[in-house]
Amino acid sequence: MNIIRLDAVDSTNDYLKREKNLLTNNFLSVRADIQTAGKGRNSRDWISVPGLDLTFSVVYNTGVNPQAASIYAGAAVLRVLKKYISSDDLKIKWPNDIYFGDSKLCGILCEMVKHDDGFCVIIGIGINVNSEHAGSDKGYISVFDIISEETCLDLLHREILLSLREIFTDFSYPVPDKILNEWRDNNCSIGCEVIYICNDIESKGTVTGINSDCSISVLDSDGIRTTECFDNVIFFEKKAQKAV
Ligand code: BTN
Repeated sequence: MNIIRLDAVDSTNDYLKREKNLLTNNFLSVRADIQTAGKGRNSRDWISVPGLDLTFSVVYNTGVNPQAASIYAGAAVLRVLKKYISSDDLKIKWPNDIYFGDSKLCGILCEMVKHDDGFCVIIGIGINVNSEHAGSDKGYISVFDIISEETCLDLLHREILLSLREIFTDFSYPVPDKILNEWRDNNCSIGCEVIYICNDIESKGTVTGINSDCSISVLDSDGIRTTECFDNVIFFEKKAQKAV
């Protein structure tokens, strides 16, 4: 496994973006003990506790579709976390967060980057592992909070890298039923109320499905429509449900 370990960096995703010569190494992973400017989707910060949590990025340069890469990566991480946490409360939230109940356990940020030989996707993964969040009202939770046991970060990192390799071996787009069904069986998005912004118009609806083009279907007063991209949907109520 090709892993670069850094003591500290601003963001493992940004490190890879700067080190463009590394981007032809498929599945190369950069892991940092400390991120000083960890990023989430929609310009949010990603805060992790040095030495206790896992923050790393992975290069994926075979299929260039960051939204599909997100869907696959979410499923790959969920497969591993399920080995540690055997509870139906562990769910994946579209497009790629992992939740336990109402609290966030893991965030994934996929970014498409151009390099000398073409394009690749940088998959950035942050998991709250051994940090403690009890009593915090920020909506985060860790593996430790759930299982009351410390988890080996090296092992978890390697297991996720193997899971990513395995799932991406069969990468295809549109996303095939095998992956979609994993999502449908394990998501907490279907049944949620969302605000969907399309052409600057906001509409409120309920998520009814997850589709092979990575969109979700939303039922609003005009009927069912599918979302166009990840960033124009705001979840404002979580209601875990099984897919139909
Ligand atoms: C989100 O919750 O919106 C995504 C969070 C992604 C965090 C990871 S940590 C490793 C990588 N480096 C970053 O700066 N972000 C991702």
